[in-house]
Amino acid sequence: MQVWRVFFCSKMNTSLEKLKTTAANITEEICSAKLTTASDREAFRIRFLGQKRGLITHLFKEIPHLPKEDRRFAGQLLNALRKEAQTTLDSANQNPPVDPISLSEIDLTLPGRRNQWPGSRHPITLALSKITDIFHRMGFTIAEGPEMEDDWHNFTALNFPKDHPARDMQDTLFIDEQSPDQPRIMMRTHTSPVQIRTMMAGEPPFRLIAPGRVYRNETITYKSYCLFHQVEGLVVDEGITMADLKDTLYRFARAFFGEDVKLRYRSSFFPFTEPSAELDIWWDLSDHPDGGRWMEILGSGMVHPNVLKAVGIDPERYTGYAFGMGVERPAMLHYDIKDIRLFYENDVRFLAQFQGIPG
Ligand code: PHE
Repeated sequence: MQVWRVFFCSKMNTSLEKLKTTAANITEEICSAKLTTASDREAFRIRFLGQKRGLITHLFKEIPHLPKEDRRFAGQLLNALRKEAQTTLDSANQNPPVDPISLSEIDLTLPGRRNQWPGSRHPITLALSKITDIFHRMGFTIAEGPEMEDDWHNFTALNFPKDHPARDMQDTLFIDEQSPDQPRIMMRTHTSPVQIRTMMAGEPPFRLIAPGRVYRNETITYKSYCLFHQVEGLVVDEGITMADLKDTLYRFARAFFGEDVKLRYRSSFFPFTEPSAELDIWWDLSDHPDGGRWMEILGSGMVHPNVLKAVGIDPERYTGYAFGMGVERPAMLHYDIKDIRLFYENDVRFLAQFQGIPG
């Protein structure tokens, strides 16, 4: 028989002490109540808080039978009790407790499941993030541009003459029908149009790289594909010289390929840079008659004054340099991959071999 029943039946003996004992018992019952199902919670509500027969409601009715000096304390005690019951009920309604699975349902002797296919990053992603990391440390920010371009951004603003062979169908993937009065739309053939877009959108100084995909209408072989990646670089400010360009590229090459990398910087031609130069690195090949060969990894040069004029920058005041490097080639050199097509076949046997370019 629970204590409060005795208490209810003998109003004559009502005392604060009894009330305290009863309240303690109720608290204990509230705390240990199992409120898993909705009907558990309804039964709890009726038992403790019900308007007619609820235990706590009933206790309140006892207060007038207590000695006068104890009534105030009794009121506080019962209010606290009612609050406790209400909060317990509310929180059980909000987050109904879940029945713990009984131990007998778990077979602790079963072997654990092993993750057999941990993901790995694509070698192009790895090479790209290493390249962007190096330039980030040298204070370059990152810019982006669209992969679909118009003739003006991809060629004209970059000082390509009207009849330049790169504008030809042989090299460019046009995505519109040619018509005499429409400028042509194409997949960008290089990341250099991002130079134009960023210079149009802001004011010098600029110091940025622009990584992204580029497209060319090329015959697919072990060394060329219709899609590949480039990282464009652009620095424009007062007093920028070719020495700044060469220094940046050499620092980059040593950071990417290692301190002992063998380099060659030789002159070249691009319509949008003057003078222009290409950077080659020496690739050791044991089966090559010369013990290896030079590989071109990037084109570069001082931004042509015509390009600065096209975007409204005064070439008398500002000078700049630009470079554009492929990503596939450095990745092929780094990982000793002999066929560019492997990057685009998504063969897990190939992809699973790459864990990261250390350093
Ligand atoms: N856009 C050139 C290419 O695709 C590379 C380049 C970029 C050269 C910037 C000079 C300056 O080959």
